[in-house]
Amino acid sequence: MNQTVIVLDFGGQYSQLIARKIRECQVYCEVLPWTARTETILAKKPIGLVFSGGPASVYAEGAPTVEKALLEQGIPVLGICYGCQLMVRLLGGEVKAAQADTAREYGRTQTAFDTETPLFAGLPAEGISWMSHGDYVSRLPDGFAICAKTAHCPNAGVFNKDRRLYGLQFHPEVRHTENGKEMIRRFLADVCGAEGDWVMKDFAARAVEEIRAKVGEEKVLLALSGGVDSSVAAALISRAIGKRLISIYVDHGLMRKNESEEVEAYYSALPLEFHRINAEERFLAGLKGVTDPEKKRRFIGAEFIKVFSEAAETYGPAAYLAQGTIYPDVIESGAAGGHTIKSHHNVGGLPEQIGFQGIVEPLRILFKDEVRALGRELGVPESIVSRQPFPGPGLAVRVIGEVTAEKLKIVREADAVFREVMARRSLAGSADQFFAVLTDMRTVGVMGDERSYQYTVALRAVTTEDFMTADFARIPYEALEEVSRRIVNEVPGVNRVVYDITSKPPSTVEFE
Ligand code: XMP
Repeated sequence: MNQTVIVLDFGGQYSQLIARKIRECQVYCEVLPWTARTETILAKKPIGLVFSGGPASVYAEGAPTVEKALLEQGIPVLGICYGCQLMVRLLGGEVKAAQADTAREYGRTQTAFDTETPLFAGLPAEGISWMSHGDYVSRLPDGFAICAKTAHCPNAGVFNKDRRLYGLQFHPEVRHTENGKEMIRRFLADVCGAEGDWVMKDFAARAVEEIRAKVGEEKVLLALSGGVDSSVAAALISRAIGKRLISIYVDHGLMRKNESEEVEAYYSALPLEFHRINAEERFLAGLKGVTDPEKKRRFIGAEFIKVFSEAAETYGPAAYLAQGTIYPDVIESGAAGGHTIKSHHNVGGLPEQIGFQGIVEPLRILFKDEVRALGRELGVPESIVSRQPFPGPGLAVRVIGEVTAEKLKIVREADAVFREVMARRSLAGSADQFFAVLTDMRTVGVMGDERSYQYTVALRAVTTEDFMTADFARIPYEALEEVSRRIVNEVPGVNRVVYDITSKPPSTVEFE
């Protein structure tokens, strides 16, 4: 059992980010909705609580709150933004709505810290913090003191050292806050007494035991997508039950260049049962004439289930279905008890349709970075572990308009050039996701002495923390120039390359 911190989610956009930062400090944490019962929270025996931000005002009718008793257990609390205001209010302090231009602050804000306070000890006394608030703490509860201030907000940080209660008006979890993660680390280590006992090596050993206990002598079926999650799940489950893991890779013919071959090479060598189903023709036939993005997605999703179910019948039966569900899926689908943001295809998809005795989801409590760390621990090759996210419908949503074998070839080659140049110039780490898109626009060009009328390839590269928002990556012009030149020279059918300079929102990462 690991030391546990509970993040109470008050509906803020950053709750997951807080949880990830805590995990990065090697401390296990879970996100619970603010509606969780006090007993449920205490039953987890938390060494610390973090109250997240949230969009409400503490005075609004029905505003999210918790029982005051939660603050009276002797458990350290870190309240962030709304969480800070709520704590202050519950303890008898006062929160006010900022009048325009007085205490209202958004964005990067110069902040002074009291470095005598445990949260800021050893850090610079001045720095930038990320603010986003309309209300502010106007009067401190008894026993509280100030530990951070800004020009407009005298109470940007408040604390009661004896009771181990801390409140920050700014967001330490956001990367724009200088040393924010260090502040979180200090809260965990120096206030909560966290020992940093959350490590992937122990997790792997425990997960293997749990899988064995659950599955017994039965067989497990896994749909392998070639992505990080299902690959690491496969490595973990095969370590637990070996050949009783039947893994099925549906090759829909919409993967990037050489990807299916890499997947097959790696998994054929593992101690598990591996089957590659070549279904390219089926998928291409069904996609003929389909131009609407949603129709493409729906067809591919449904066809995937059909092909997988057929294969499951051929190679089964298996008592259990394994899924590469990870923690963000669980939080976002509301399964952790939170509000539903979007229903994720991984949570509650296949089982009802195929009829299994149970589901095995060994990565259910892990964030993406942890899945990668676990993969490395299990010896999954770096080319798979560091693979960028790739949409389920594959290149079909990166070919605008009708998908054909010819267009897939173009986008595959263009994408391979882009990746190769980024890797060779050591730029792959400068974007969280980058790829080529084949637009359905053809334009006039001149090649040699001849007029050409060919396709335009769009390059997309983004930096992001969570893919909910993203910024376009500032790739050096020299690299873009090389990619452009090489694509036009090496990929037949393309005479123009453009770079997408929109962020999300208003755009999305993918084009369809
Ligand atoms: P968007 O385009 O929504 O993409 O900004 C955000 C992230 O999600 C990925 N993506 C998908 N992943 N199935 C997936 O598993 C899908 O249907 C899908 N569509 C988009 C996208 O690549 C980006 O990382």
